[in-house]
Amino acid sequence: MQKLNLVLDKSLYYRGIYHYHSIDFDKIPHLLSTGSSGSGKTFLNKLIVARVSLKIANASVTVLDFKANDYKFAINCKNLYEFDKVKEGLEQFYNEFLLRQQGKTSDRTFKLLVIEELGSMMAYFDKKEVETMKSMIANLIFMGRSAHCHLLISTQRPDSSYFGAGVRDSIGTVISLGNMSKEGKSMLFSGFQDEMKEHHGQGSGYMLVNGAELFSIKVPQVQNVSKLEYYIQQALNR
Ligand SMILES: Nc1ncnc2c1ncn2[C@@H]1O[C@H](COP(=O)(O)OP(=O)(O)OP(=O)(O)O)[C@@H](O)[C@H]1O
Ligand SMILES: [Mg+2]
Repeated sequence: MQKLNLVLDKSLYYRGIYHYHSIDFDKIPHLLSTGSSGSGKTFLNKLIVARVSLKIANASVTVLDFKANDYKFAINCKNLYEFDKVKEGLEQFYNEFLLRQQGKTSDRTFKLLVIEELGSMMAYFDKKEVETMKSMIANLIFMGRSAHCHLLISTQRPDSSYFGAGVRDSIGTVISLGNMSKEGKSMLFSGFQDEMKEHHGQGSGYMLVNGAELFSIKVPQVQNVSKLEYYIQQALNR
């Protein structure tokens, strides 16, 4: 079982109880984190990567950081792809997935692809390249689970042109940080808009699991940044 404690329950947290909502990658293979600039997506993504690295044996993580900003501490790691290299990183991950899917390797170690700022990454490439990248992402989302290839996609605006409804519905765990627009809610939290009345600041928001369970959540504090960065580096070099 590839289960990870992910985020704290917000209402319990304010009553002094630290209760984690966990995810089981075997059951819910992919995640999406969204929220406006500064809402804490990258902070959460780093926490997830560090936890994956620490808790899942031999887990390998690939990060595509188009903004080339947030992973400077890992600049020499082989699975970090910045700016225009992100396309190469996606292809590399996808090829590994294809080898597994086509039975050309028996390797089934846990692999996670983190896409930081899908929106700005897609806006950079030309139309044809974007279509190819979109179809790689869609295939990974639809078929990645059995190959143990997982995705964590992050974007400020969950634009429907990046992934169609079918892809969106297959993501499983959706986390929004800060306050979400009406459009964002109807796109990613359909059926739950009326329940989403709380105000959220940096590092807090909502999590929807399998389109069925809504939680108000808080991203835990990081006590030791060097330890966090150490574990991220480990996973980025596997
Ligand atoms: N849960 C948190 N606890 C403490 N500090 C946080 C938390 N989340 C974010 N921060 C701080 O806020 C700043 C902005 O967060 P972050 O970079 O994660 O935002 P973002 O949503 O990725 O923004 P952008 O869309 O611009 O990339 C960071 O410098 C980080 O240290
Ligand atoms: Mg960010």
